[in-house]
Amino acid sequence: MKILLIGSNGQVGWELARTLLPLGEVVALNRDQADLTDLEKLRQIVQTIRPDAIVNAAAYTAVDKAETERDLAFLINAQAVDVLAQEARKLNALLIHYSTDYVFDGTKDAPYVENDATNPLNVYGESKLAGELAIQASGADYLICRTTWVFAARGNNFVKSILRLAAERDELNIVADQIGAPTWARLIAETTAHILRQAQLERGANTFESGIFNLTSEGETSWHGFAEKIVELKHIPPTPLQRGEENLNSLAPFEGGGAIARGVCFNCVINPIPTSEYPTPAKRPANSRLSTDRLTQRFGLTMPTWETTLKLCLEELK
Ligand SMILES: NC(=O)c1ccc[n+]([C@@H]2O[C@H](COP(=O)([O-])OP(=O)(O)OC[C@H]3O[C@@H](n4cnc5c(N)ncnc54)[C@H](OP(=O)(O)O)[C@@H]3O)[C@@H](O)[C@H]2O)c1
Repeated sequence: MKILLIGSNGQVGWELARTLLPLGEVVALNRDQADLTDLEKLRQIVQTIRPDAIVNAAAYTAVDKAETERDLAFLINAQAVDVLAQEARKLNALLIHYSTDYVFDGTKDAPYVENDATNPLNVYGESKLAGELAIQASGADYLICRTTWVFAARGNNFVKSILRLAAERDELNIVADQIGAPTWARLIAETTAHILRQAQLERGANTFESGIFNLTSEGETSWHGFAEKIVELKHIPPTPLQRGEENLNSLAPFEGGGAIARGVCFNCVINPIPTSEYPTPAKRPANSRLSTDRLTQRFGLTMPTWETTLKLCLEELK
């Protein structure tokens, strides 16, 4: 099997470039080698490589910036995805693509299932939903994996930001009323390898059905609970509280980046605050929980808890 991996330098893409290797020939391309803003070149790349499967891990993921870069977000997250889907259909290749809980508005009182009504609150979510719809309309065989709160040992993410800030600062205020499941990029990549293999067997047997699948860790927490667990697992000892001047944090624009509120620079005490105390350009859903029942039933996979994978990721960072 020949697999074209797009976005090989992202959190998920970097892991995929490793975990997909046993499945066949992997052509892993980063942004310099396959730029999703150049649609014609992207088409040519797919036609030249002629893969059996395309895994698209590239995306415009700057959630707050997307509010003012709508066209670019849609170009990368929707138009380029449409091109990949069209080319996949022409080649009869399977397309695996990632989406997000941000297609929902977060008002549901329980974990979202795949066919719940979408209603994105921000431009990023709208652009990701447009990408999903383009794939579904293309006629290609596809698996869309919706994930949440991605972290990894590489790249910009909440875990690395908290580790840095907890070492630098004495006190952090973190949003406690957004709930979700932190998901390790390696878990996403390894799950992708399993479902890709099964999907190709099903396609060979003419039993394959395209679909959307939630792919997250088990369990749930808030950004505040996540931050506390990162610090706890890292064994950063608390130091005496001293009053000092307030300092505004500006974090790297990863998907959950806006969930961190003001870092008040004392000792590493992590205070819960409501979202209303940290307004961001992009609104975020209060409920980001996604049910993984469909993934488990279709592929027989059991997702580990977010705490289990966080420990493994922190061990790697040591
Ligand atoms: N991060 C999250 O919390 C989160 C949550 C839910 C869903 N997702 C989805 O999960 C998937 C993987 O996300 P991730 O966390 O791995 O994201 P990431 O770490 O931000 O990686 C995204 C990758 O896309 C690449 N990219 C951006 N613009 C591009 C362009 N014009 N052409 C080609 N490549 C481009 C980036 O290239 P550079 O390395 O050169 O910047 C980067 O390698 C995405 O579909 C994302 O929407 C992410």
